[in-house]
Amino acid sequence: MQICRDTESMIALSTDWRAAGTPSVLVATMGALHDGHRALVARARDWADSRGGRVVASVFVNPTQFGDAKDHDKYPRTEEADLALLRAAGADAVFLPQASDIYLPDAQTVVDVTGLSRVLMGKLRPGHFRGVATVVTKLFNITGCDAATFGEKDYQQLTLVRQMVRDLNMRVQILPVPTVREADGLAMSSRNQRLTPADRAAAPVLARALDRAEAMVTEGRTVEAVRHEIKQVLASEPRADVQSIDIRDASQLSALRGRPTQSVVILLAARFGDVLLIDQRVALPS
Ligand code: PAJ
Repeated sequence: MQICRDTESMIALSTDWRAAGTPSVLVATMGALHDGHRALVARARDWADSRGGRVVASVFVNPTQFGDAKDHDKYPRTEEADLALLRAAGADAVFLPQASDIYLPDAQTVVDVTGLSRVLMGKLRPGHFRGVATVVTKLFNITGCDAATFGEKDYQQLTLVRQMVRDLNMRVQILPVPTVREADGLAMSSRNQRLTPADRAAAPVLARALDRAEAMVTEGRTVEAVRHEIKQVLASEPRADVQSIDIRDASQLSALRGRPTQSVVILLAARFGDVLLIDQRVALPS
């Protein structure tokens, strides 16, 4: 596994791949890797193996997507363990840049997906998705990737990246990966380590609420009835401080009323202590 610690060496490697006609696939991460990220690398490996291609992972805690510099500083950094996981999962190269290399002081250009970045989580975290869209564009350009994996766990991020690729004619195929969960249903996240034991035991209520919601959508129930049921399930767990319950059209995240006729996505956010957890589920009315 090759390690590129600056933009120049990553560009040199991707230029070699391109010259040899070798396609590549990017797995973009912020490190603190777990089995959810491992599934992304496995998906990328499959994509690459069927084309004689290469898998490149990036590990970069992107400062521009954090509203609060303290959150950025607090983000777990576990480089050695991350490299071991990536090597075992079959990455061919890892890009581990410094912020000063990615963001030059005289930069003037950002990427803003104007609609999708201002709804849902974007409303709660202004500027977050502009930071994501900008860094993802830069990572696409630096690695020269032909494809990139994104987890359904961050559903709004996945939707926004797809929109950006379409809008800007980026020649990168987006490969979505289903959410990887713990045995009790909790979606894997680097934030889970920060939960107290009592909050960790309470957190699977999100997945239970989504199970119930998915079943109701499949049965043809209305958005209002599904929302009511989700509230009831979440209220059964006093440790869950519910931040948002959204039931949206799965492709554009537009608001819905009544009985859905197309795929919907149910997005939940709740605090457990000071840890904000998100989870989502796509459901299809039968
Ligand atoms: P990060 O939170 O490290 O996530 C990297 C990728 O792993 C994202 O595509 C995310 O959706 C996926 N992922 C995380 N947990 C997952 C799980 N339990 N199951 C499946 N996939 C999971 O998302 C980011 O980093 C950043 O915003 C980034 C795209 C790297 C830009 O900075």
